[in-house]
Amino acid sequence: MSEDLQKRIEEAIANPQNMGELPNADAVGTVGNSDCGEMLRMWVKFKEKDGKKVIDQATFQSFGCETAIAVASLATELIRGKTAEEALALKTDELAGELGPLPPMKIHCAQLVESALRSALDPAAEKPAATTPPSSAPTLMDAFAKPATGPKIVFLDEEERRD
Ligand code: FES
Repeated sequence: MSEDLQKRIEEAIANPQNMGELPNADAVGTVGNSDCGEMLRMWVKFKEKDGKKVIDQATFQSFGCETAIAVASLATELIRGKTAEEALALKTDELAGELGPLPPMKIHCAQLVESALRSALDPAAEKPAATTPPSSAPTLMDAFAKPATGPKIVFLDEEERRD
């Protein structure tokens, strides 16, 4: 990685924007990269503006990689005021914004941000397993929570037991 890019990444993560969970978000997307173990989650909240539904705020949480944090910080600023369609139309290098062109080994970091955004905004995007609803099979706890339908067990008090 060039010294110049390293400096821009350091500047971006020195004061990361929009980091953390967004309460009452309208959409959430989570993605992980199995190669590097990096994981990124993005929250998006919309508002109405001039009769259009636009992104009011977007936040993220990332585990590990500085480049992904820097791109997510820039991207969450960039998509403010855009519709979901406009945000989804942004290319990976546009999301990386002022970081400039990323070296080949760091492109997947920006793609991780793009995928998280896609996962949050595009209902047709493949959702990771963690966000799919649980199967309808009852768990053991569900079984205990249901009212008992079998034979009723009545405990005898001390005197009845002695008889
Ligand atoms: Fe994998 Fe950056 S090193 S997301």
